[in-house]
Amino acid sequence: ERDGRSTQTTDDVVVVSNRQPYRHEYDDEGGINVSRPTGGLTSALDAAMRERNGTWIAWGDGSADRDVVDDEGHVTVPPDEEEGTYTLNRVWLSDEQVENYYLGFSNRVLWPVCHSMLMNVHSEAAYWQNYEAVNDQFVDNVARHVGESTIVWFQDYHLSLAPRMLESRVPDGAFLAHFWHIPWPGWDMFRACPHGEEIIAGLLGNDLLGFHVPRYGENFMECVEQTLPDADVDRDAAEITFRGKTTTIKAFPLGVSVDTIRTGAKSEAAESFWSEFADEHHLDEKRVSVGVDRLDYTKGIPERFEALERLWEDSPEWRGALTHVQIGSKSRSEIEEYMDIQTEVEEEAARINERFGTDEWEPIVYTTAHLSDEALYGAYRHGDIALVSPLRDGMNLVAQEYVAAQGDDDDAVLLLSDQTGAHDYMGEWTVTVRPQNTDEFASAIDDALRMPASERRERMRELRNRVEDADVSRWMHSVFETIAEMQTAGTGGSDG
Ligand code: F6P
Repeated sequence: ERDGRSTQTTDDVVVVSNRQPYRHEYDDEGGINVSRPTGGLTSALDAAMRERNGTWIAWGDGSADRDVVDDEGHVTVPPDEEEGTYTLNRVWLSDEQVENYYLGFSNRVLWPVCHSMLMNVHSEAAYWQNYEAVNDQFVDNVARHVGESTIVWFQDYHLSLAPRMLESRVPDGAFLAHFWHIPWPGWDMFRACPHGEEIIAGLLGNDLLGFHVPRYGENFMECVEQTLPDADVDRDAAEITFRGKTTTIKAFPLGVSVDTIRTGAKSEAAESFWSEFADEHHLDEKRVSVGVDRLDYTKGIPERFEALERLWEDSPEWRGALTHVQIGSKSRSEIEEYMDIQTEVEEEAARINERFGTDEWEPIVYTTAHLSDEALYGAYRHGDIALVSPLRDGMNLVAQEYVAAQGDDDDAVLLLSDQTGAHDYMGEWTVTVRPQNTDEFASAIDDALRMPASERRERMRELRNRVEDADVSRWMHSVFETIAEMQTAGTGGSDG
């Protein structure tokens, strides 16, 4: 194990998430294949952990070959050690646990509730039982790494019970923080959440609880007031005291790794991907809009297609002149609502293509092929406009990636849903869309395509400044700075 330390030795920083940053599998020749699951959370935190070392505890999904790692389930990552290493410690889950804790309570209860999509909530007793048991299993593992100066940093909605479970098991001085990567809805929505009270009480085991935007924190405080009458909520100080523990609520807007994306977008790999792709789909001489999404019902992809269809219907001059490139990645495919959205997106693209397409023009180029990061950045850079139209989204990193991929003089236009956290920070310089308002959305696309170059450039300059300000490394530093300030002021840290 790294530095010859035993698992009983404590770390400075322990990150705990459901999703792991690296998957290790054997190939046919017995070599080890390393792959990276897609998703904003893991790539953001990988950079943080490279700087801070420490331990990352996560579900060993897909790393079925347990013997790739040592007896304790540890592996030192990432593979390119010059950029810093940390220890990845896997939690192994049974099929039943995955079914009920991950696919069930996390993604059929908490995900739709927090995205205000109650029609997609489906709850079973076994979901909750497994959710509790898995949180407990994570806590057993985490507790082994925590000393009196350890910062434990939980991520996301899969682990809401863990902080309170851990709190009574750690020494004085240990600091518990949590970042909630999805929206937190108002009370009138959250009251539909089965076991909502336990979820909230679980999160109040933290010293610090972070959200993307201040309004999610305000919603959380409202939910605490409504569910836990014994809790003392100080709205002005954004502090909640419950059962002897004080939790500070704060917004930390998550960003992207701007330099990596900018460099990737200019790379040879990005250019060669795009020139081949453009050739194959006859994109030369056409305006291109791009959409990049996990295939999730929150992302508003059918609504986006409807707006495009309306545009081609009402403004025939865009037929043959605008192509929409939709890149979708499959996600949580075992869940019925996710299977449905995959089918719907595919069928709608085919129907619209059938309706308007010609030999020279495919209106919607839809792919679920796995693209390299560079290929993706190349697509962003060559997209004249991007359509980012979620029905609800905690932050939305695609909007920021699109901006980061543009060169200094580029004049791309971002259309952004007002239902994203990102819109709170950069909406002013985007073309705002309300995804369900089809006519308005269609004319917003038309406006964006006709916008004078000088205005496009000015907006993009402003957007670039905002995305640089929110760079992921700043996000991480601001979380750790807040923790350090709280520790100095004596407002954080467990009292055992
Ligand atoms: O938005 C929450 C989030 O955890 C993202 O950070 C991540 O990109 C996505 O969900 C991935 O979901 P999953 O881990 O279920 O594949």
